[in-house]
Formats: sequence, structure tokens, C-alpha cells
Amino acid sequence: MKQAAAVAALEWVQDDSIIGVGTGSTANHFIDALANWHTMPRGAVPSSEATEARLRAVGIEIYDLNSSGTLSLYVDGADEANANLQLIKGGGGALTREKIVAAASIKFICIADASKKVAVLGDFPLPIEVIPMARSYVAREIVQLGGDPELRDQFRTDNGNVILDIHNMKITDPLQLEQQINQLAGVVSCGLFARRPADVLLLGNSDGSVEQITI
Ligand code: 5RP
Repeated sequence: MKQAAAVAALEWVQDDSIIGVGTGSTANHFIDALANWHTMPRGAVPSSEATEARLRAVGIEIYDLNSSGTLSLYVDGADEANANLQLIKGGGGALTREKIVAAASIKFICIADASKKVAVLGDFPLPIEVIPMARSYVAREIVQLGGDPELRDQFRTDNGNVILDIHNMKITDPLQLEQQINQLAGVVSCGLFARRPADVLLLGNSDGSVEQITI
């Protein structure tokens, strides 16, 4: 299902472009499929060190976002997506760089298996990247917002920070919650992608078909 969605995203890749590439098992399917695709980008901006290594392994040139300029396309997975193509991301811990690359891209194609589509975001614990010294303060503030924060065990992000996974939040207003969490001192970024949702959601089904949702 993930592979079907990843292959469907290849249609958006333009010859000689520099594209953004996300992190996770679905993004890995995209990288593997891209390596054998007839239209090759000039290169890619990775959203994590793991993705950078995988792109290099298949011979795709790596670009720095500071020199690439605006990207025409960003392709990445998600942990949950709602009907407005707002997302929870960061299950793999790469949310901050994913958010930066998504923000710097004209089109964001989200690729996922059909189980990721939900009516209300929040069954998947919402990841937040936090500066280590702010971990307890941010956790207390999250409790005030109604969530149950849990420190991700033995985990550091590519930026050297920790992740708090927030359980038991029904996220009925993703835009407002993203803003509230972003304002907490010590929060680097929040895994809610509401201010910058996906532009297209490709959902792979078990029969190999792919549903395309656009808003
Ligand atoms: C990584 C992410 C991933 O896109 C998300 O966790 C989905 O992963 P997968 O494609 O393995 O299901 O946000 O930080």
C-alpha cells in the first residue's frame, strides 16, 4: 500500500528539478522507485540524515536547502491525515526538518497507506521536538492543554533534541493547537502540519489502487 502511493507520486517529478524528500518507510519506497524512474531530478534536499544516506546510496545528488532555493516538490509520508490534508508527522522523529522542507516547497505530495486517513487527528501520539532543558516545562504546559506527554525513550533528533509524544488528544482544531504549541518556549517544532498541509494526498489501497485527494 505504501509502495503503491510512493510510485504514484513519481508522476509529479520534473526533469532536472531539485525536490524535497521526506523520511520513513513510505518515503523510502519513493526513493527506491525514483532510482529506476525515467524522469530524474537534478537532485534532492533530504529531511533527515537517514534519507540523505538512502538518496546517496541510489546515486541521487544531495543539495543544501540554503543553496537550492524554493523547491518545486516535496514528497513525504504521514502518521495521520484528515480530510483537509492536515497531518500528524514525526513518528520517525524528523518533523522539524520535514516542516522546513515542506514550507520551502511549492507542492507537497503526501504518500501513505489508506489506514492513515482519519476523521479527527490525534489517535496517533503527536510528536513535539523540544530543546532538552525545556522538556519538563513543556510537558507541564502540554498537560494544561489536555494532553499526556511521554518522553520518547533513548531518542535524539538529528538536531540533538528530544521528542515528547502527546497521547490522548482529540485534535478538533489543528491550526489553533499548532499555534499554541509553537508558542511554548523550548518547543522547536510540532508534528502538526496544519498551517502548511499537504496539497495532494495519495492513499495506497490493499488492491494496489491509489486514491488521490486534493483540496
Ligand atoms: C517521519 C515521518 C513519517 O513520514 C511518518 O512517521 C510516516 O512514516 P511511515 O512512512 O514509515 O509510515 O513523519 O518523521
